[in-house]
Amino acid sequence: QASSKIRNFSIIAHIDHGKSTLADRLIEHTGTLSARELKEQVLDSMDLERERGITIKLQAVRLKYKAADGEIYELNLIDTPGHVDFSYEVSRSLAACEGALLVVDAAQGIEAQTLANVYLALENNLEIIPVINKIDLPSAEPDRVKKEIEEIIGLDASDAILASAKSGQGVEEILEAIVNRVPPPQGDDSAPLKALIFDSKFDSYRGAIPYIRLFDGKVSKGTSIKMMSTGKIFEVIETGVFTPEMTPVQELKAGNVGYIAGSIKNVGDTRVGDTVTDARNSAPMPLPGYRKAVSMVFCGLYPVETSEYDRLKDALEKLQLNDASLMYENETSAALGFGFRCGFLGLLHMEIIQERLEREFGLNIITTAPSVVYKVNKADGEVIYIDNPALMPSAGEIASIEEPVVRATVMVPSEYVGAIMELNQEKRGTFVNMEYITETRVSLHYELPLSEIVYDYFDQLKSRTKGFASLDYALKGYKESDLIKLDIMLSGEIVDALSFIVHKDKAYPRGRKLVEKLRKLIPRQMFEVPIQAAIGTRVIARETIQAMRKDVLAKCYGGDISRKRKLLEKQKEGKKRMKQVGSVEIPQDAFMAVLKMD
Ligand code: GTP
Repeated sequence: QASSKIRNFSIIAHIDHGKSTLADRLIEHTGTLSARELKEQVLDSMDLERERGITIKLQAVRLKYKAADGEIYELNLIDTPGHVDFSYEVSRSLAACEGALLVVDAAQGIEAQTLANVYLALENNLEIIPVINKIDLPSAEPDRVKKEIEEIIGLDASDAILASAKSGQGVEEILEAIVNRVPPPQGDDSAPLKALIFDSKFDSYRGAIPYIRLFDGKVSKGTSIKMMSTGKIFEVIETGVFTPEMTPVQELKAGNVGYIAGSIKNVGDTRVGDTVTDARNSAPMPLPGYRKAVSMVFCGLYPVETSEYDRLKDALEKLQLNDASLMYENETSAALGFGFRCGFLGLLHMEIIQERLEREFGLNIITTAPSVVYKVNKADGEVIYIDNPALMPSAGEIASIEEPVVRATVMVPSEYVGAIMELNQEKRGTFVNMEYITETRVSLHYELPLSEIVYDYFDQLKSRTKGFASLDYALKGYKESDLIKLDIMLSGEIVDALSFIVHKDKAYPRGRKLVEKLRKLIPRQMFEVPIQAAIGTRVIARETIQAMRKDVLAKCYGGDISRKRKLLEKQKEGKKRMKQVGSVEIPQDAFMAVLKMD
């Protein structure tokens, strides 16, 4: 029987509502780490995460807590990433728990992403403990937030805990609530092993290490384990728990949270959501809910210097070791040469990978504009999926194009309803319905093309609502739409990496704006460069970059040597992120220009 002294829980919160700070308090209060060791926030420890203040990779920590009843409990806190790109990972880490703290900022109230995660928790039958955080703030309105929790989620908030992760108020009460309200894990030590992978990490010595929650059975050194989605078998060489460092233990049993190491070379073999069982005594059925990671957004990644191709390849390989949801394959562009087509869970995921390539690997890369995956029904009956606009068949070969659409929820104070409706109209959204969640807050449901969300939707949403709106979305399916490919030509040559797919009604204004923007972004060359936007062979917009004036150059060759050097250095600096395409040098910004046009 699983131990009645274990509690597995996670924390659900909107970005900035204080999840990491509260987790730190819980770790500190249970003496898991001293305050000094906590100087660095433990749970989100990646540099990038700390800078952006968001949790990307989930992790786990075991807390030992002596409760008011005198007993010592093992509390496993499983962290969840706080971004819509990673909602599948969130659902799997919630599936590993019996309870969740719902942390809501006392001054902000419930946001769209919080709500989405609460639904995931309810689907997994978790006991939810509402915690109203930041009650030390003068603007805190705990009663209003309680009412929101009751009205929006339908949870009884009368026993919500008022807390301040900053001052430590309410922390003891939270720990007691975890012990008393979260049910202990159910499970049978003697049944065949059944463990859920909720995360994994790559370690250069021990290989890919799955983080698991055991539902049934046991695992220890020497167990032959089988991954149920692939049937692959590995021998366990170490089992352990998170204190939060990886600490070896003799065995893991039903109810436990920990890790296993077993010379697994590839994180692709430790898939989030997969079930680990005993190869010699297999569970008949895997745990429910396994899903393979699906890339939603694609872009091309190219080295600025052709000679860095191999380094870029190595870097992607290394990143993929730790991130099974990163996809890439070779791609060749007439304009940019040899590079990679990469698939991501969403835009944030894409930005994280780009930044890591630059920071951790010191690479200079050119990124092409992100694209969603289009479903193309060809005239000859064939159906193809296109993630690179340059590969779209010509109009004559296409019967119809379908694009991915999402079901989006925007939560916003009611005075911004007009602004949201206007934005969604511009973004080709279809209104579904609107609910008043309190007298002053509204939840709007829309269907929107994913491509419009990939474009500047989020920035627009924030700027048009002074930051008050929150967004959540989930893929709904494909929908036919009147889409066409727009090509950009420089000096009469199509630059494949600048092609994009656009709705027919927007083709003219977008084409015009883009060529205008490119004229400003592409520096003058020694010769005149015409920029054209075209649909098929029809040119719909044109601008010209004038040739560089001779006297600008002449100045460089004057007498002042230091000035000349400065100028050359400046040019070199600028060159870093320039790509030579034919005879024209194009800066990185130009490839992203299509994203920021409205
Ligand atoms: P993600 O990691 O992005 O999900 O954010 P988070 O929810 O972990 O938020 P985090 O703990 O980083 O806190 C966000 C901000 O709120 C930080 O500046 C904290 O110092 C502050 N904060 C957290 N808890 C409290 C609190 O109880 N009172 C006050 N006044 N500030 C708090």
